[in-house]
Amino acid sequence: MAKGRKNGLYEGVSEELSALMRTGWADTERHDLEPAEQAPYAAARRVALSALFPGERLIVPSGNLKTRSNDDTYPFRPYSGYVHMTGDQARDGALVLEPRADGGHDAYCYQLPRDSRDNDEFWIGYTAELWMGRRRSLAEAETVLGLPCRDVRTITEDLAAGSGVPTRIVRGVDPALEAAVTTDEERDVELEGALSDLRLVKDTWELGEMRKAVDSTVRGFTDCVAELSRAVASSERWIEGTFFRRARLEGNHVGYGSICAAGDHATIMHWTDNDGPVRPGELLLLDAGVETHSLYTADVTRTLPISGTFTPVQRQVYDAVYEAQEAGMAAVKPGAPYRDFHEASQRHLTARLVEWGFIEGPVDRAYALGLQRRFTMAGTGHMLGLDVHDCAQARTEEYVDGVLEPGMVLTVEPGLYFQPDDLTVPEEWRGIGVRIEDDLVVTEEGHENLSAGLPRSSAEVEAWMARFAG
Ligand code: GLY
Ligand code: MN
Ligand code: MN
Repeated sequence: MAKGRKNGLYEGVSEELSALMRTGWADTERHDLEPAEQAPYAAARRVALSALFPGERLIVPSGNLKTRSNDDTYPFRPYSGYVHMTGDQARDGALVLEPRADGGHDAYCYQLPRDSRDNDEFWIGYTAELWMGRRRSLAEAETVLGLPCRDVRTITEDLAAGSGVPTRIVRGVDPALEAAVTTDEERDVELEGALSDLRLVKDTWELGEMRKAVDSTVRGFTDCVAELSRAVASSERWIEGTFFRRARLEGNHVGYGSICAAGDHATIMHWTDNDGPVRPGELLLLDAGVETHSLYTADVTRTLPISGTFTPVQRQVYDAVYEAQEAGMAAVKPGAPYRDFHEASQRHLTARLVEWGFIEGPVDRAYALGLQRRFTMAGTGHMLGLDVHDCAQARTEEYVDGVLEPGMVLTVEPGLYFQPDDLTVPEEWRGIGVRIEDDLVVTEEGHENLSAGLPRSSAEVEAWMARFAG
């Protein structure tokens, strides 16, 4: 009799119970599965990765469950580089590219297979299939992913068999697997960078997913506007819950913690407590994105007058941010340096801040010194995809010092934030925060604003809210 967990109510498992549990189960192997739509795209991405590292073994883990407390865990989210290269979302997996003599690689996807019913592993323990849900068999995974799958419980042995092969692993994803191989940190960082570089330009399938993410997000924002009066009667949490419902119904989750920031909270860039009041007369800054079932996320912000109409000062700030966003979006086109859209927006905001007397001009001097940053705080955007701040480990010369290419997806999100305790601005400006954020795909001709379905100018926003009022 094995002892159960500490303070569990059962002392252990009798031989008779163990024998009873192992018998009487139907064969549930699935023979109806088809290759995932994404499979050929993932295969092409692996070819591109392979070409960068001839003769080297590459290991891209998916990651493990993280403990929240005792035997409770956080929801699992696989490493985005693994998702991109396999289309898979399983925990405890790893993609291994084994080098071939011809310079290419053979790809294997290591997976935690189904639990055996010939022993107790399938029903004892928090992560057992009977408790966590059915996994795929290796054969099922092979069909869906379109690449050979192996049992991850033998990965250490398999890797030891070729221990002389120069190896790279993405660090910080699966500590146990990392400990089982000998690699060089700098070279591992290059692998992680390459996986980020390869996500800079989205393929056709990914662009379809980005559209789904943004379309669901547009519906989520509409839900929030429709339920604004209920938020006024409760708190920012109503907004958070309303958006989350749409994210869970149509996608996997939210792509990052929703920022539901009313009043002063709009000046806090990463406000996710979302426990404040929603008061008429103030602004609500809502920054949220639905993550699709395939784990691609949108990242959209609208700033709304809670009463339905902007006050004169709110409108002045809003319109300046809107114009800065227009200037930034106009700079999003193929061949343009990545930094152009940021600079176009920031220069516009700098000019306004000088004009309003909040920073000392002339504009060129203020901009060169970065004085506007007291009020603009963040950069004007970032790449978007599987991660909200996608491709974060990409080579600088390919990303911020690079040039825009068709298929890149990025946010343009200028903002102005006047802190509630900022004595350098008049009192009625204090506590105002405005950001407008849209998701753009670079096209052959210029760009397409994927989130154009949401009203953006101050007049459009007011008209939109009026439709839901009363
Ligand atoms: N929501 C995070 C960002 O806008 O970058
Ligand atoms: Mn963003
Ligand atoms: Mn955002």
